[in-house]
Amino acid sequence: MTDFIGSPAAIAAQKNIRDRQAQTALTPAWVNAARVMAFLEPDKTGWDAIKQIAAQDRMVGFPLVNADEMRAGIRQNLGPEWDTRAWDALVGDADQVLAACKTVTAAAPLPEDSTVIYHDRPSDVEITEIQTLNAATGVSPYPAYFMRSEAVPVLTVAIKDARNRVVATASATMRYHPDCTLGRYVFAGMVSVTPALRGKGLGKLANALVLRESHRRFNWTHATENVASDNPVSRAMIRSCGLTAGGLVSIAASTTGENLTR
Ligand SMILES: CC(C)(COP(=O)(O)OP(=O)(O)OC[C@H]1O[C@@H](n2cnc3c(N)ncnc32)[C@H](O)[C@@H]1OP(=O)(O)O)[C@@H](O)C(=O)NCCC(=O)NCCS
Repeated sequence: MTDFIGSPAAIAAQKNIRDRQAQTALTPAWVNAARVMAFLEPDKTGWDAIKQIAAQDRMVGFPLVNADEMRAGIRQNLGPEWDTRAWDALVGDADQVLAACKTVTAAAPLPEDSTVIYHDRPSDVEITEIQTLNAATGVSPYPAYFMRSEAVPVLTVAIKDARNRVVATASATMRYHPDCTLGRYVFAGMVSVTPALRGKGLGKLANALVLRESHRRFNWTHATENVASDNPVSRAMIRSCGLTAGGLVSIAASTTGENLTR
């Protein structure tokens, strides 16, 4: 198991984010998004601290924002050299999401001899299995400490096949400060299915299972997930779990020139 994963720039940012966690826990507008430090309502909460952190990490995030307005804010406050990649942010309220997820889990029984395991404090071996599947599917893995819920509550589901191999995973995290505007939103995602088993409902099932179990544990009011415009399968999966696009995006701004995740 490695604590941090990715390029040297990504690892440096992940370490900074972990080292900043005590301050993040006291700052409602700051979000430990594991792979980037994210910020809510920067126009209200102030760009000065964001500029400092952006200079250290070279990648920062802005969840659930208007694309044009936030890109203008980034250009003006951080500078024109920052790439601004956007993912559509899909959202659903608890009733809507839980009803859809119940339908998914009822319609898609687990393949024979497979098992479902939920982790909130996975062992090193379990972390390695999940990180390895994420990395193999192009989803940038969460750092180990984050998966162990050492920063914020994180729930990961692993679906294992008859030979005890993790074939699908998804996660849900209460990453937003309780006193911020998104305080009772769960952020779900990190869905990965081993290539040989794709298109059989396993991604949808993993996503639905982690949403249902995280609601039981965290009692969130809304769920949100991000999807890239070129990932129609992921979009269909998230929509089947009751989340819909409302015109907002999540932006990752970076000067590292790399793709942060799918
Ligand atoms: C995205 C991913 C998790 C989906 O898992 P999956 O098991 O392949 O997908 P499912 O069988 O559960 O299908 C999900 C939806 O996509 C549709 N779908 C599946 N394969 C498809 C394909 N090749 N073309 C079009 N639609 C497809 C399904 O019909 C379903 O939609 P529906 O509920 O409206 O019928 C999986 O493909 C994967 O690991 N991809 C790489 C990593 C990734 O992109 N993760 C998401 C980013 S967080």
